[in-house]
Formats: sequence, structure tokens, C-alpha cells
Amino acid sequence: MTAQPQRTLLVTSALPYANGAPHLGHMVEYIQTDIWVRFQRLRGHDVLFIWANDAHGTPIMLKARQEGIAPEALIARIGVEQKRDFDAFDISYDNFHTTHSDENREITYEIYRRLAAAGHIRRETIVQAYDEQAKMFLPDRYVRGTCPRCGALDQYGDSCEVCGATYTPADLVNPISVVSGTAPVQRESEHLFFKLGDFEAMLREWTGGDRLQPAVAAKLGEWFTAGLRDWDISRDAPYFGFEIPGEKDKFFYVWLDAPIGYLSSLLQYCRRTGRDFDHYWRPDSGAEVYHFIGKDIVYFHTLFWPAVLAGAGYRAPTAVYAHGFLTVNGQKMSKSRGTLIGAKAWLEHLPAEYLRYYFASRLADGIDDLDLNLDDFIAKVNSDIVGKLVNIASRCAGFIARGSGGRLAGQLADPALQEEFVAAGARIAALYEGRDLAGAVREVMALTDRANLYIDQQKPWLVAKDPARAAEVQAVCTQGLNLFRILALYLKPVMPRLAAGAEQFLALEPLRWADAATPLLGTTIEAYAPLATRVDPAAVRSLLDASAETLKPAGAPMTAASTAPATKPAAEPQPPPAAAVDGAPVTISIDEFGKVDLRIARIDSAERVDGADKLLRLGVDLGDLGRRIIFAGIRSAYEPEQLVGRLTVVVANLAPRKMRFGTSEGMVLAAGPGGKDIFVLAPDAGATPGMKVK
Ligand code: MSP
Ligand code: ZN
Repeated sequence: MTAQPQRTLLVTSALPYANGAPHLGHMVEYIQTDIWVRFQRLRGHDVLFIWANDAHGTPIMLKARQEGIAPEALIARIGVEQKRDFDAFDISYDNFHTTHSDENREITYEIYRRLAAAGHIRRETIVQAYDEQAKMFLPDRYVRGTCPRCGALDQYGDSCEVCGATYTPADLVNPISVVSGTAPVQRESEHLFFKLGDFEAMLREWTGGDRLQPAVAAKLGEWFTAGLRDWDISRDAPYFGFEIPGEKDKFFYVWLDAPIGYLSSLLQYCRRTGRDFDHYWRPDSGAEVYHFIGKDIVYFHTLFWPAVLAGAGYRAPTAVYAHGFLTVNGQKMSKSRGTLIGAKAWLEHLPAEYLRYYFASRLADGIDDLDLNLDDFIAKVNSDIVGKLVNIASRCAGFIARGSGGRLAGQLADPALQEEFVAAGARIAALYEGRDLAGAVREVMALTDRANLYIDQQKPWLVAKDPARAAEVQAVCTQGLNLFRILALYLKPVMPRLAAGAEQFLALEPLRWADAATPLLGTTIEAYAPLATRVDPAAVRSLLDASAETLKPAGAPMTAASTAPATKPAAEPQPPPAAAVDGAPVTISIDEFGKVDLRIARIDSAERVDGADKLLRLGVDLGDLGRRIIFAGIRSAYEPEQLVGRLTVVVANLAPRKMRFGTSEGMVLAAGPGGKDIFVLAPDAGATPGMKVK
């Protein structure tokens, strides 16, 4: 194998928001990044994996408020959970910092100063939704209401999930602030804009090379055609972030200082370790900089980020690599379906390393979504890792231990076969380098089959019956173990623990990529202990049960005020769902309708809700199903007293929704346009609580 010149690499994963513990969707990215980083290290390159959490923005501010703690306390707590889970998944980051740090403030201010000095910042007064009760401007996603195009209720302020229309919160019919449940007003405020258009030539040139995947480059082409719009980088107080120097009550928008976290975490690391920070980020840097991200945040990383860097006199990234989204058993990860599996939940039921293997086997270099099919997961791990790979070691180990006192033969039985395995290393390395992890895993498994075939053909168990042929058994099993050693090495970026087990068993120093070329001969190995155990389908079932249980099915009220806001702004408008054309009602199948559990309920209590003048808090009796609390947006039409004792119809299996005021566990059915004209449905006499509506 030819030696490669040593490269200096700085690698990042996207910075997870500090408002929740990681789930398996996050882990796709962090495992992908880690495999690539470990591969580069094995090749002998100088690699830093620099990371942080993303601590600023409205969702984090509100979540901390809701918990009655300071945002700093929330960030610190989530940071501990994040590091705990990332460590357990063997993510080998060199530094994990936070964007709410002195280093990040320092660099953000410097970048802003340079952008402003160079004339890349301008001011403009804009009109925005304002919540007079909460005394805050509302991000689009914090306003909900009726879609102006198709009339769907309870839609976000930026787009309709039913018909796909995009608009501003001002266009919504009956808009409601998610924060207070009151109707927002329109208010003016002066904002600061980053002039993205100043960087069009630079961006066109930057995106022209092989820095981006073809699908991402195509997307960028569309954005260029649509025209680059200036970017609003300021937010009014109250906001959790960095105050903008020289302004009153204005803060930097979270997405300005978030990617700067890539620099500031490195700065913290360099100050601690004495490394040279400037070496990485100056314009003529010989280092390579790579960002791994999800496809939802491509706009920020391929337009704003390189432009901000260029405008402030830093180098742009070498490449930005996006991946697709994870589905679980073919479904979008969702809390209500029980398919939102926390990283911690996985760790409580199954080995981290098996998920690393499965994700690797599913991740190519594109941005296609990938599915965690749990039956396939069980079959694949049990067959590939336990049945085939580890089997090579266990088949050979006993003969070496018993037949030759643990000593390997002095030469290989089949040098040509060994050479095939060594030669495959270049191919596998190229696949890792190009992030075709699935391709690399496929190659390794093909070699694994080849190694098993070799042992099947040599039949050491038959040869061992003849004491005169002991040397032959030793040679064959030495060959088998040498093949196993190479396979464990090639899979080491994906399964570092399995590789460590193999190193221990074979009494080796940590394997490096170049070690494949030198066979292991004449040394004494350790006793074999099983290197992997089968996945028990029961463990997968209990994982799914546990994930479903964290949110039992129940439901939400019919009004906007119920909905917990999404934790992130949409990076770009979503395409309309295929089923809905131009505001036509969406049809559903009888099966889909069958999933809706409609029940007769008796309203046995009704109260006003402090701080939400559209809501009533209803206690409903569902007969055998028990009692539920439902928040319903019917205050404008009913006094609570009018409702107590009445029978009505309730959706009983709607996922519960957490609201500012409590959790709503169902939905009361009502008709009408709103205001005074809302009519709660009532069954004919004779119906009793708990009866199914068909
Ligand atoms: N804080 C921003 C990133 C700032 S980077 C300067 C953010 N955070 S996030 O927590 O929402 O997501 C972190 C990463 O996880 C993103 O790259 C996102 O695409 C990825 N994923 C989140 N859910 C995912 C799936 N279900 N599947 C695959 N990746 C997903 O965005
Ligand atoms: Zn609509």
C-alpha cells in the first residue's frame, strides 16, 4: 500500500439544539460523521472533530421559562444528557462546547464588526406578528390559525400542512399566538439584514466545485435562479442570544451565531491544548474543513455560512455533506406514533454498536432518506456480525488454543487469499472517503463470506482428527484469524468496540489502516471470548413499547393555542403533499378513517383557563376509557356552566398535546366558523359515555 501524505482535517456535525436529548434521527448524522472521522484517523491523518450544542433562540427561551429555570441551566442540563448519549454511542469528538459561550460571543462580535465595516449589513423596518400579552414578537411558527387558501384549521404561520400554501402569519384567518393563546397584532420594528446578494459571485464559484453533492448543487441552482434574498439577522427582545453591539434590545438571530460555534468550539479547544486556531480558518489555510449536516439545513450551510465567512475574511468550508432523514419502520419519526426513539432509550435496550453497523449499512453518499426497519435490523446484525464475521474467529480460536498452545503459525497457508484481502483495502478506503458507508460495509461482508468459504473448504475440524496433521490445522486457522484481523480493521471505523475486542483477543496494539499489509505470524493469542451476541427480538419489542409509552395516545383541542411549536424554523418552504391539489379536500381511505376512535363523552367539568381567553378546560367521562382532560377552543361560544352535564362526541385516540396550561388528551368535536358560531356536537338521547361512534 502506498503511503499517503498526512492531511489536516477539521470535521463538524451540526450542533444539536440544547432543548432536548438526542434521538435516533440525530444519531444518523453523528454516527455518520464519527465513522468518517475514525476512518481518517486510522489512515494516519490529523483530524479534529469539533462540536457544540446550539443554545440560542425562542424555543429554548420559552422552554426554560416553562420549566421555571434560567436558559443557562437548561442548556447545561441538556448538554450533560447530550454528552452522555454521544459518549455511549462512541462518538469520538475532540471538543463539545456550547454556542452560549464567551468564545462564541467574541467571534460573533468580531464577524459582525467586519461585516458591518465592509458594508454588508443594512437596516429595514418590517412588520411582524406581536403577542401583546406575552410582550414579544412571534416567529412564524409560533402563530397558528386557519389556512387562507384551503381553510384547514390550526396551521403554522408560514405554511399549510394540508394544502401546501406558503404565506406569512398576517395572512392566517383567526391567527392565535402559541405562546399566550391570544390573537397577535401587527407591529413594526427595525431589523438588520445581511446582504447575501453581495456574495453571489463568490457563492456561485464556491458551489461550482465538488464541494457539494449533486442533489444539493441542483437545489442551489434553483435558489440562485429565484434570487438571493437579504437575510434578517436580528431579533427583538425578549430573546435568548447575544445582544447586538450598538443596538438597543436587539439580539442576533440564532442562525447567525450557531455555525460560528464551529469556530468558537475550536477556539476553546486550541486555547486548552495549545493548537493553532488560525491555521484552520485563515483564507490560505492548508487544512480541510468539512461540515456534516442534515438536508433540512442546507440553505444555512451552503449560502449564508460561506458568505458570512467570506465577508468576515475567513476561508470557506472544503465541503458540506448532507444526509437524508431517518424513518422508523417506514414511518416518519413521530412522538404520537411511538417512532420517536430516544438515543437513551436505544441504549437501555440494545447495543450502540449494532445501530452504528445498521446505519452504516444504510448510508450512502446521497441525501436519500433511510429507514430503520427493526426486523431487518435484527436479521442483518444476527446474520452479518454474529453469524458470519465473529464466527470466523470462534471457528479458528479453539484449534489454535488447543492444538498449538495459542501460538500462530510462522507463515500463511494461502498468501494469495491474504493478498486479495489486502488489495481490497484500497477499494474500501475509497468508499469510506467518499462516504459510501453502505458500499464499504458491502465489500467487507463479501470478504467475510469469502473467509468463511475458505474455512469451510479447509475443514480444520476434520483435519484435526489426525494428530500428524497438526501443523496444517495451525496454518489454516492462522490464515483464518489473519483474514478476521483484516476484516475487524476494515470495519473498525463502524464498530470500534468489536475491533478493540479483536485486538485484545489477538494480543495486538490498536490496528491502523496500514497494518493490513503485514500479517500476524508466530505470536501468541489470548483465549477467545465471544465478541458479539445475537439481538434478542424481545429487546427490540421492549424498546418500541417503551418509546410508545412515553406518550400514550389521546389528543388535542381544536384550536391553535394547543399546539407546541416546532423547535426549528423551516429552512425552506415545504412542497405540497401529493394528495392535495389546489385546496381540494384531501380524501382518506376507509382504513384511515377506521383509525379514528370517536366516542360519546359526558362533559363533567368545564373551567376557564387563566391566560388563554379562547380556551376551556373540560373534564370528560368516557365510560370504560376513563376520564380525560381536554382543552377546547370554544370559550368564545360557550360559558363553562352551559356545558357541564352535556353529552358530546370526542376523538379518543388523538395523541396528547402538551400546552402551556397542561396536557390535552383528546378533541371535542364542534362545527362552525368560529367566534360565537361554534356548535359542540351532541348525540341523540340514549347514547351513553364510552360508546363507539361508527
Ligand atoms: N441547531 C441546528 C443546527 C445548527 S448547525 C450550525 C439544528 N439542530 S437539530 O437538533 O434540529 O438537528 C441537528 C442535526 O440533526 C441536523 O443536521 C438535522 O438535520 C439532524 N436531524 C434531526 N432529525 C433528523 C432525522 N430524523 N433524521 C436525520 N437527521 C436528522 O438543526
Ligand atoms: Zn391550506
